[in-house]
Amino acid sequence: MIKPHLELTGVDMAFDTPNGPFLALDKVNLKIRKGEFVSLIGHSGCGKSTVLNIVAGLLQASRGGCVLDGHEVNTPGPERAVVFQNHALMPWLTVYENVELAVRQVFRKSMGRKEKRDWILHNLTLVNMQHALDKRPGEISGGMAQRVGIARALAMKPSVLLMDEPFGALDALTRAHLQDSLMTIQQELNSTVIMITHDVDEAVLLSDRIVMMTNGPAATVGEELTIDLPRPRNRVALADDPTYVHYRQAVLSFLYEKQTFPGKGDPVTSIAEPAPSEAAPAAPAIVVESTPLEPQQRAIA
Ligand SMILES: Nc1ncnc2c1ncn2[C@@H]1O[C@H](COP(=O)(O)OP(=O)(O)OP(=O)(O)O)[C@@H](O)[C@H]1O
Ligand SMILES: [Mg+2]
Repeated sequence: MIKPHLELTGVDMAFDTPNGPFLALDKVNLKIRKGEFVSLIGHSGCGKSTVLNIVAGLLQASRGGCVLDGHEVNTPGPERAVVFQNHALMPWLTVYENVELAVRQVFRKSMGRKEKRDWILHNLTLVNMQHALDKRPGEISGGMAQRVGIARALAMKPSVLLMDEPFGALDALTRAHLQDSLMTIQQELNSTVIMITHDVDEAVLLSDRIVMMTNGPAATVGEELTIDLPRPRNRVALADDPTYVHYRQAVLSFLYEKQTFPGKGDPVTSIAEPAPSEAAPAAPAIVVESTPLEPQQRAIA
């Protein structure tokens, strides 16, 4: 059998808390091939960001581990770009400088000064942020900051792209535009992607495989669903496609019938609300209820 590009084996994650250890993850196993697009979906607090942070090298598993191309992951590295749930920009740097920092880290020697500048502008234009190059994170909206975080990650041409709810704070039109761009870029770069999302339609549209996590504590992989839809994918054409609808139903059934929202008797759905300053009228998406930041999310240096 071909060796997987990325492999999580027997990953447990226990956090120390004032009340003793808290077992967030229990025996998570995952094999991902090069260029595969995998979505992680599950209810709020189940451990999705924890899995991502272990792959990013920001957290060490309590047991088991993560291997990338035959090497154990212990620290962050530029071949693994992260789009954080809280976008994590450097507050003292401008929009341009935030992307520049990452580009200089990866392409210090291989790109000339003008090439770097063009590449930074290209990526910021891709996320429609070219008009705010000199603004600092405190001067832009949450959705805009999220777009800068996406530009920063894509500008690194990573072999592994780790995205924690990358489109969560965006209005539906911007989200659709960036989803389409991401699909194109990912095909071009053949990057391996792990994306956390609460949006079932987003997961089915973008993924080769959807990994569904059980509720925590001691969360693990519950079910996996291979999305066998040809690419390029067109959201409008797929809306009525029976196979697409079937996949969508399968994910909804896992989330709302098999793993109801923790602490509540009834299944939960809510309508995605864009951040106020990014709001635009568009079709709502079904999402799983979510809470904002968790303490372990940290900025990359
Ligand atoms: N540093 C920490 N110390 C203690 N508990 C933690 C820590 N980080 C995460 N947890 C707990 O681990 C569990 C998983 O957290 P995680 O952030 O991975 O969930 P999530 O699936 O990403 O949730 P969400 O969808 O809300 O972002 C939660 O119960 C959380 O409270
Ligand atoms: Mg999270």
